Amino acid sequence: MKKIKIAGGIVVVAAVVTGVLLYQNGNTTTDDVADNSTQMKHPLTVGDAAAVERGHYIALAGDCVACHTKPGSKEAYSGGYAISTPFGGIFASNITPDVETGIGNWTERDFYRAVRHGKGKNGENLYPAMPYNAYIKINDRDMRDLWMYMRSVKPVHNRVPATRLPFPYNIRLAMMGWNLLFFKNDGFIPDGGKSAEWNRGAYLVQGLGHCAACHTAKNPIGGDTGDYLQGSNLGEWYAPEITGNRYSGIGSWSDDQVVQYLKQGSNQVAVASGPMAEAVTNSTQYLTAADLHAITTYLRSQPGSESQKPARQPVDTPQMKMGANVYSANCSACHNSDGKGIPNLAAGLANNPAVMGPDASSLITTVLQGGRGAVTTGNPTQGAMPSFAWKLSDEQVAAVTTYIRNTWGNAAPAVGARDVADKRGLLKLPQQMPAGK
Ligand code: HEC
Ligand code: HEC
Ligand code: HEC
Repeated sequence: MKKIKIAGGIVVVAAVVTGVLLYQNGNTTTDDVADNSTQMKHPLTVGDAAAVERGHYIALAGDCVACHTKPGSKEAYSGGYAISTPFGGIFASNITPDVETGIGNWTERDFYRAVRHGKGKNGENLYPAMPYNAYIKINDRDMRDLWMYMRSVKPVHNRVPATRLPFPYNIRLAMMGWNLLFFKNDGFIPDGGKSAEWNRGAYLVQGLGHCAACHTAKNPIGGDTGDYLQGSNLGEWYAPEITGNRYSGIGSWSDDQVVQYLKQGSNQVAVASGPMAEAVTNSTQYLTAADLHAITTYLRSQPGSESQKPARQPVDTPQMKMGANVYSANCSACHNSDGKGIPNLAAGLANNPAVMGPDASSLITTVLQGGRGAVTTGNPTQGAMPSFAWKLSDEQVAAVTTYIRNTWGNAAPAVGARDVADKRGLLKLPQQMPAGK
């Protein structure tokens, strides 16, 4: 399930801030550049092929397919996937050129308005589960190519159920308040003091890649905090810090390691799991080496959090001893006694920033439900990790995750059995089976 946190308390917000934040910085993006006579259903000509191909790359970089296709469905972009939010499921639309159930009779301008400004065909506000607050950075040229590509997609007749959120979230007008607070109508502004490569990376990360949707923590009403790309809890998962911080970010990885992770879904240390495995499978694996290097350059330049390696948990606590036993009996076959794992197959646990993050959600989820890395052309045979929910108690899972966070030079806060119990509830996984059954 894709989890995106969006605005809560939006109605209150609407009342409080209306009119306060209408400032502009002179780089306002307008959709009036788009043609308002051509409709999506109008046939393309041979001369459009190059634009369609460029647009396909834009759609991949934007990962449009991930939300707009039901998992397991072969009908790309036909919608129906419910994005789960704390307020209920929001159905992603059918964005194929089907006239009745898709957006076949939308004009180019309608399309720009939806993608960059979060407006539906009749001007209604879309829910920010559609990441238009990032896509506002997409430039006119890329928007045009994206539009041409979307016109080339096979029309699919699929009526998507209406989203029914409880009051007050069912009021689309309430989104006005959210927009006033968190939506900045700023196009991408290149930084003249930085290299072309850095600017390309900034453009991709801030805009199409919408990396902040998962990697930047949200405030209680669902807007991005100022802790840009410094890690965020997604419920079952934790999207770690991806700035230049050497302890909690990607600062200790080489450029090639970051690029390899985004291209193949794994590098010598880490394996992308959960939502990041999806992002790699659907999107980042298709980016050119130049674009992945640009992303890396930009991420590395971000100052990041102040977080530093804490003192290691003492090895002789009862919890660490229990963890060592659980590890050697259940984990070392794949992850090795030195914690180095099997490169590109079973994740390395030693010196892996994701293992040491301030929030152990991804670790607990992986141990409880098991997992599978991203499947990519570069690494089609990802290893699988078995589920331990039935085999290990909450205490044992807490102990083994605390152990891997504090061995082989790793250091991070201990995990409590309570955290594991919460995750078991969230994942709807059964309790450990009594021995002998
Ligand atoms: C993280 C999930 C997500 C991603 C990624 C995403 N969308 Fe959406 N999109 C949604 C959701 C959810 C809605 C419905 C919002 C609503 O009902 O208010 C939507 C709505 C839309 C609409 C409006 C359709 C209508 O009938 O009103 C268009 C057009 C659209 N998306 C295009 C795109 C394109 C193009 C991309 C890639 C550049 C994209 N989306 C990426 C989740 C996503
Ligand atoms: C849908 C949510 C989501 C989106 C969008 C997303 N990520 Fe991630 N990302 C995650 C999660 C969750 C993890 C942790 C995966 C794990 O522990 O295996 C992660 C891990 C990573 C890591 C590895 C960090 C580490 O220390 O192991 C990198 C690098 C990364 N993401 C970069 C990006 C970039 C660049 C983008 C935008 C192009 C992006 N992510 C978009 C959720 C997301
Ligand atoms: C059969 C082999 C196997 C066994 C046994 C195994 N793992 Fe894994 N583990 C994997 C593979 C493969 C991955 C990468 C796929 C994924 O992340 O889901 C992985 C991933 C992980 C990750 C995620 C690391 C990251 O970068 O996000 C953690 C944490 C982990 N394992 C801990 C454990 C613990 C603790 C145990 C013992 C209780 C264990 N594993 C047992 C194969 C195994």
